[in-house]
Amino acid sequence: MMTAKDYMVRENKYGAHNYEPLPVVLEKGEGIYVWDVAGKKYFDFLSAYSAVNQGHCHPKIVDAMVDQAKKLTLTSRAFFNNVLGEYEEYITKLFGYDKVLPMNTGAEAVETAIKLSRKWGYQKKKVKDGEAKIIVCQDNFHGRTTTIVSISTDPEAKADYGPYTPGFITIPYNDIPALEKALEDKNVVSFLLEPIQGEAGVFVPDEGYLKKASELCKKNNVLFMADEVQTGIARTGKMLACDYENVRPDILILGKAISGGVFPVSAVLSDDDIMLCIQPGQHGSTFGGNPIAGKVAIAALEVVKNEKLAENAERLGKIFREEFRNIKSDMITQVRGKGLLNAVVIHNQPGKTALDVCIAMAENGVLAKPTHGNIIRFAPPLVITEEQLREAMNKIKEVFKKFE
Ligand SMILES: Cc1ncc(COP(=O)(O)O)c(C=O)c1O
Repeated sequence: MMTAKDYMVRENKYGAHNYEPLPVVLEKGEGIYVWDVAGKKYFDFLSAYSAVNQGHCHPKIVDAMVDQAKKLTLTSRAFFNNVLGEYEEYITKLFGYDKVLPMNTGAEAVETAIKLSRKWGYQKKKVKDGEAKIIVCQDNFHGRTTTIVSISTDPEAKADYGPYTPGFITIPYNDIPALEKALEDKNVVSFLLEPIQGEAGVFVPDEGYLKKASELCKKNNVLFMADEVQTGIARTGKMLACDYENVRPDILILGKAISGGVFPVSAVLSDDDIMLCIQPGQHGSTFGGNPIAGKVAIAALEVVKNEKLAENAERLGKIFREEFRNIKSDMITQVRGKGLLNAVVIHNQPGKTALDVCIAMAENGVLAKPTHGNIIRFAPPLVITEEQLREAMNKIKEVFKKFE
């Protein structure tokens, strides 16, 4: 019988060292819970970085995948298939756009949006060839491709991967005057941002920022591109985080939870005027739009609607932040977030770091992961009930008490 240690040693020996997982080896998941190889049960408060909003192994989503996997898995886009159109109609009507371009991972969807907005810039805005610029924000996280790390301001994500892709202007997040200034450049074709910066540590911009930013973009004939890969699909208490300010992005980027974490599915949505700037042969993906992805995404989005996950996230998020703010601990310097995307900032001291807290929480049956050394993100599956949330909160409180 292999022990947890055996599994970790094997991963370390044969796998690249591009991650540093907590020392927990999982083998089963159901709803908000996961179990390790010794049978210990945990509350999952990460949800695979907000991909598993519908809970682990949701039966409706898994059934959709298994049923389709027995019929047809992949055709490539060399041919039509009988599922893709159904999915495209479903997702475009759900989010209110003319068209969708299907991809697989979040980073691919962001790349697609970048390419699409450049195409639009040259064809519609008539920017001179090779001169298009895209505005991005400091501390962004949009994925791991070479172009995307080119726009990262995190040395860990970026260093030694140059030469970097040119054509980007970086401005501070949540800074309207900086955006106004950057928009003076007539070669700007789009503004790419996260409605809440997730990986940076759940930075929620000021109320009105998204609205004002999108209005400024419109005024300057610049596309507003929202990367809702992490914030979308009910995570922050609305279907999209942009919905809080009634902002409709010109290009909407989705990933992660549109499949409930069952299968890699991502999507870029926009209207014909923009989307049709890409013509046959100019972009694609072997797996993008495959029939399993289509069926899985429809099922996953139906679950979000039918189980009212946005409403649940909004209500329970308030309880979470209130409960956390009531914890009397000088280790906690800030609690912030929206819906069930929250972060707690830890005043790191020797033996009392965010990592120490996460390890102690894991021992006590709650899984979360530190980011940037001193921040812990808390993002349980949105199917969590109030009772379960309070039970998990009690476990978290016990941990902070132990550190006193
Ligand atoms: C906002 C945002 N965009 C893009 C990505 C990249 O998604 P993926 O890891 O599926 O490529 C992430 C992943 O965390 C993300 O949070």
